[in-house]
Amino acid sequence: MMPPPQRQGVGSAHSKLILIGEHAVVYGQPAIALPFPLLNVTSTVENGNNGIYLTSEFFTGPISNLPNQLKGIGMCIFETLDKLQAPTKELHIRLVSNIPIGRGLGSSAAIAVAIVRSLFSYFEQKLSRQTLMSLVHVAETYAHGNPSGIDMACVSSTKPIWFEKGEEVVPIHLAQPLHLLVADTGRVGDTWSAVTAVRKSYLSKNTGTKASIERLGALTIKARENLAGDQSMELGRLLNAAHEELVNIGVSDEGLDQLVKAAQQAGALGAKLTGGGRGGCILALAHNQNHAEELSQALLDVGAQQTWACTLSSE
Ligand code: MEV
Repeated sequence: MMPPPQRQGVGSAHSKLILIGEHAVVYGQPAIALPFPLLNVTSTVENGNNGIYLTSEFFTGPISNLPNQLKGIGMCIFETLDKLQAPTKELHIRLVSNIPIGRGLGSSAAIAVAIVRSLFSYFEQKLSRQTLMSLVHVAETYAHGNPSGIDMACVSSTKPIWFEKGEEVVPIHLAQPLHLLVADTGRVGDTWSAVTAVRKSYLSKNTGTKASIERLGALTIKARENLAGDQSMELGRLLNAAHEELVNIGVSDEGLDQLVKAAQQAGALGAKLTGGGRGGCILALAHNQNHAEELSQALLDVGAQQTWACTLSSE
């Protein structure tokens, strides 16, 4: 006789790209983020016999042994089980992900979203967006210190989003597809320390930092107008200008600047770091799909560890 099928819960999430507005978004300025479905994570939950056990590429073992930088995930799992009023303490959570960790692509938020969704699926309970956000916030606060919430909003959205801290998330329509090339420095960025350093400078009334944050907000507003029309040349210029402001507030570094410059020299309409910075990735706006492939080669030639070319549209 066949054994009864194993009870299973499955949840997934994709990565994200911040098109423009990172860091400034922490101070109430708007930002635009794009779902990046090429990179994604799936979490599968089954009965276990080893306490709450996690199997993944970056950690395998009981979640009580999670390393410090992943403790937020453990806290998020406990909060979720609490919310589900789930008495069981014998679960096996398996993660399969192709999102590189710590590269500004939203891996921590995506992992937390996938896990919460899989736990709700396992216990056959409905998950509202509000509950999802409040549970993932636990992991994000641990990872980023004072997150704006843009990462978790974007990794759980199927549409590009206009994001302002504390406001309703607004889906954005792209009038034209965006041809993008994402390139990874191969170095893990530290969003927590980048966000903390910017906050220190902002609170010390550093007028340069404040002015840059405001200019990033203004560039984001213009970018939204460009996305609604077909003005990719102008959008590219806005991305270049945003990178300069991110340099001014101290979240870029030599490796990111080198990739941005190489993309601009290879004819990108614009390029900038994406996400927390200080390591991680850049994105470049290409003329078309072929051009994105050409940019990919140009960036690999100057030392990018890996690249992803993609065309994103509202559909
Ligand atoms: C990180 O992806 C985006 C930041 O603006 C931090 C945040 O908004 O929480 C750097």
